[in-house]
Amino acid sequence: MAAASPSRPRDVVAPGRVAVVTGAASGIGLGLCERFASEGMHVVAADVEEPALSKAAAALADSGTSVLPVVTDVADRGAVEALRDAAVSAFGAVHVVCNNAGVGGPHGPLWECPPGEWDWVLGVNLGGVINGVRAFMPLLLEQDAAHMVNTASIFGVFAGALGPYGVSKHAVVALTETLHFNLQSLGVAHVGVSVLCPGAVRTNFGTSARNRPSWAGPPVVSGPAEQESAERFNRLAVQGASPAEVAAIVVDGIRARRFYILTSQNRDFAVTRRGEEIVAGGPPAPPFP
Ligand SMILES: NC(=O)c1ccc[n+]([C@@H]2O[C@H](COP(=O)([O-])OP(=O)(O)OC[C@H]3O[C@@H](n4cnc5c(N)ncnc54)[C@H](O)[C@@H]3O)[C@@H](O)[C@H]2O)c1
Repeated sequence: MAAASPSRPRDVVAPGRVAVVTGAASGIGLGLCERFASEGMHVVAADVEEPALSKAAAALADSGTSVLPVVTDVADRGAVEALRDAAVSAFGAVHVVCNNAGVGGPHGPLWECPPGEWDWVLGVNLGGVINGVRAFMPLLLEQDAAHMVNTASIFGVFAGALGPYGVSKHAVVALTETLHFNLQSLGVAHVGVSVLCPGAVRTNFGTSARNRPSWAGPPVVSGPAEQESAERFNRLAVQGASPAEVAAIVVDGIRARRFYILTSQNRDFAVTRRGEEIVAGGPPAPPFP
């Protein structure tokens, strides 16, 4: 166990503590659940994809973890409040919340992106985090020690790209920075927040349209440029880190109370360059040279 921090007396990743993870049935979320389980924590696993969630929860239970699967659409405020209530009913407390569920969406010109795509991508990627903050932060403040991790992306910290996805991830970074200042201004030291900005990770993200609701309307037919953008993204993801590696970085980040948690350094130059471009008047350089 990590040494106790002077500003937060007890480790939040520790046996008997309770973690809630959204987007828990696959990829980074599943990696987080497995890591929290291996730390002896109770795990509340939330996902919109019921069969994958049941399978993931069964595997966690088989390894001896106390796991509560809760089918949850994070874009639905009432469902996230019900998730919180289910977690408290089962385990009496929540110490770690990972607002992690996210989806892709089209990469084409923003003005051609249909309203249904905007509503879906922003509803899950940003709305899901807002719902998680509103439902869980008051509960975290009641604990002796707690931490919230919001999943953005490396595409949240440099020049906008990838359609509504990049927009949503910049917003998650801004939201979490605001959360940090909110807690700081209230003198809260026992609750930490982090924004996870992964680079490429080997997950099922390339098929996130599997969870696209019918109300979003027919999917956009991609042109060659958007297809190339999506294919490049998927090629990078295949070469990326494993969810277990990302989960280890997240746990280290929580223990060290790191605010920005990046999972690879190969885009550091683009983060630095963005600041320089803003000061110089821009325009932004594309994220891929
Ligand atoms: N894979 C990468 O390279 C990468 C890079 C940067 C950021 N991210 C972010 O990591 C997070 C996790 O994605 P991943 O790569 O593990 O993909 P993934 O598709 O493997 O997992 C995402 C999970 O979220 C769930 N989900 C989708 N919509 C949901 C909803 N409305 N409510 C609840 N759950 C929902 C899916 O069912 C799935 O289990 C996302 O926020 C994504 O934007 C991923």
